[in-house]
Amino acid sequence: MKITILPGDGIGPEVCAQAVAVLEHVASAFGIDIESEEHLIGGAAISKTGSPFPPETEAACRGSDAVLLGAVGTPEFDHFLPEDRPEMGLLKLRKALGGFANLRPSAAVPALIDSSPLRREVFEGTDLLIVRELLGGLYFGGPRGFSDDKTEAFNTMRYSVAEVERVARVAFTAAQGRRKKLTSVDKANVLETSRLWRETVTRVGKDFPDVTLDHEFVDACAMHLVTNPTRFDVILTENLFGDILSDEAAVLTGSLGMLASATIGGDVDLYEPVHGSAPDIAGKNMANPLGAIASAAMLLRYTAKNDAAADAIEKAINWVLQKGHRTADIAGGSGTMVNTTSEMGAMIANRAVEFANVNNAFHAV
Ligand code: IPM
Ligand code: MG
Repeated sequence: MKITILPGDGIGPEVCAQAVAVLEHVASAFGIDIESEEHLIGGAAISKTGSPFPPETEAACRGSDAVLLGAVGTPEFDHFLPEDRPEMGLLKLRKALGGFANLRPSAAVPALIDSSPLRREVFEGTDLLIVRELLGGLYFGGPRGFSDDKTEAFNTMRYSVAEVERVARVAFTAAQGRRKKLTSVDKANVLETSRLWRETVTRVGKDFPDVTLDHEFVDACAMHLVTNPTRFDVILTENLFGDILSDEAAVLTGSLGMLASATIGGDVDLYEPVHGSAPDIAGKNMANPLGAIASAAMLLRYTAKNDAAADAIEKAINWVLQKGHRTADIAGGSGTMVNTTSEMGAMIANRAVEFANVNNAFHAV
C-alpha cells in the first residue's frame, strides 16, 4: 500500500511522526506492506515552493492509496487572502482526491469522562459519528470574491441533488453498521440548499428502511450536542455546518486533539486529525498525537480494510489512557502523569503490536 504523508504546519509534523510510527509497527505485525513518502503542504509548502499545494505533492497524492495529513495553517500567513493561505492547500488537496464524505467519530472514552466540559451524567454513553459533506457548499461554491471597490464580499452556497445523494448514501450505510439512527442537519427554515438537502435525504432514506431518519435544524443540533449528546448516532450535514459541529462534538471528549477523521468516496482516501496546527505549542513535544494516531487506525480500517489492525490501535489508545497517561491538554488537575507526544506514540505503538500478536496467535490456533 502506498501512503503519502503530508505533515504540514505547526504540530502537524510531530503528531504525524507518531501516527506513521504506529502505523508502520502495526502494519508489519499484520503483514500489511506499507510504503510511505513525505511531501509538502500548507505554510511549509508556501515557504519552500510558493504554493500551498505544489504539483509534486498533488502527483504523489494521486499516485497513492491513501494520504495521511497532520495539520495546516500558520500565523506567518495570516495576512494572506483566503485563496493564498495555507488552508487553501488543504482545500485543493480535498478537491484533487475527490473524497466527499468526511467521517468524524466522537465518543466518550471512559478514562477521560471527567475531562469533558459536560457533566459525567450528560456525556456518559455518547457515541456519535458526524458525516460531513466535504466538497460542496460555501467552501467551493462560486461565484465568490470581493466587489471591485472591496466594500462587499460574497460566497455561494450551492448543492446539487447528486452531491447530497452520494454523501447521504454513505451516512445511511454507516448508520446501518451502528445504532441505525440518522439525524440530518440543515437550515431548511431559511435556506434553499437546505430544502433540497432535506428532500434528497428523505428520498434516499426510503432505500434504508431499517434506519430511523430525523431532521434537525443546525442551531438546535448545536444545542443538543451539549445538552443531550447521547440522542445522536449518525449526524449527516453539509460542509460548513459539519465543520462547526465537529469541533463542538470533538471538544466534548475533553480535547480537540483526540479526534480522527477519514474522507472517503473519491479516488484516494484522506486521513487527518480534526484538530488544527496549534502553532502556540508546536515543536515542544507536548501536542496530543491521539487524533493523528486514531486517523492511522481509520486508514487501516477503510483503505487497508483490516479491522483487526485498526482495532489493535484503538484498543492501545484506550489502554494507554486507562493506565493514566495523558498529554498536557487532557491532563486536568494534579496527580496524572503528563507525557510527551513521542512518549504517547511509543507506548501506543508497543501496546498495539502486543494486541496484534495476541490477535495473530489467536487466529493461528
Ligand atoms: C477542518 C478544518 C478545515 C476546514 C480548515 C483548516 C480549512 O477546520 O478540517 O475542520 O474548515 O475544513
Ligand atoms: Mg474545522
